[in-house]
Amino acid sequence: MNLKGYLSAKKKIVDSKLDKYMPKETEYPQIIHEAVRYSVFSGGKRLRPILMLAAGEIFLQEERILLPAACAIELIHNYSLVHDDLPAMDNDEYRRGRLTSHKKFGEDIAILAGDALLTIAFEILSEEVKDSKLALRVINLISKAIGTFGMIGGQVVDISWDKDKAELPELEFVCTHKTGALIAVSLRIGAVLSGATKREEEALYEYGKLIGIAFQVKDDILDEKLDREKGFNYPAFLGIEESKKRAEDLINKALVKLDGFGKRADILRQIAKFIIKRKE
Ligand code: IPE
Ligand code: IPE
Ligand code: MG
Ligand code: MG
Repeated sequence: MNLKGYLSAKKKIVDSKLDKYMPKETEYPQIIHEAVRYSVFSGGKRLRPILMLAAGEIFLQEERILLPAACAIELIHNYSLVHDDLPAMDNDEYRRGRLTSHKKFGEDIAILAGDALLTIAFEILSEEVKDSKLALRVINLISKAIGTFGMIGGQVVDISWDKDKAELPELEFVCTHKTGALIAVSLRIGAVLSGATKREEEALYEYGKLIGIAFQVKDDILDEKLDREKGFNYPAFLGIEESKKRAEDLINKALVKLDGFGKRADILRQIAKFIIKRKE
């Protein structure tokens, strides 16, 4: 199967499972269920859950074992976007081609919708990862990845940078934390839930960290964020060409981390290359 076919087949599987996990819009209080569904079902690429499933495939793990955690990660990603778009953060009006949650439902409901998405994710993890020891490990890994030493830490530095003082190391911190942490932990959990060895888990985690930064660099290139006054990102610091080079370099390093896995990691190799080639 080519990569496009693979991505759309996996997206379908993830979406259908998400639909089963999410409360129905008809359930009281309807407005919050409408709001969480509005954000989740608005055409996200589902990159993080797909990476987790692809990591599991290396070990021939059954998809049903991975899907609860894959869906939980996607809900957490969506929570982070809903809050990221709020007026107090990036103040964005559109996401995935339609109104952001707070524009559609108001700030109060958008904040609660983000909270709900995060909470539902942990409900799924605690109920649907059937091996309780593994569930605890996964919950612990995710909590660390999205907490103040992970995604939240990255967001904090992103919104509080001093444009006159900020330099590349801080920018790297932002990318590895606000974006890289969740992508990297998705791969790690794919390995953990598939009985991988420590070494294999570590290799996939390292691959995840590298493609995670590259993903953010590419995201900023696509958004053409060139004005240092307005944003803290690679193109504004290094220019488009140098940023592209950095992203390519990161992807090449990521590919090396897959060397021990043979053909079964081909999809992850293709996804890595796709990250810097993508047009959206
Ligand atoms: C966008 O992530 C925000 C970042 C962390 C860079 P994605 O590009 O994965 O967003 P969706 O889910 O596909 O919309
Ligand atoms: C989003 O980063 C990162 C998180 C939500 C954790 P950005 O603010 O750079 O992403 P976009 O441009 O809104 O998608
Ligand atoms: Mg932001
Ligand atoms: Mg934003």
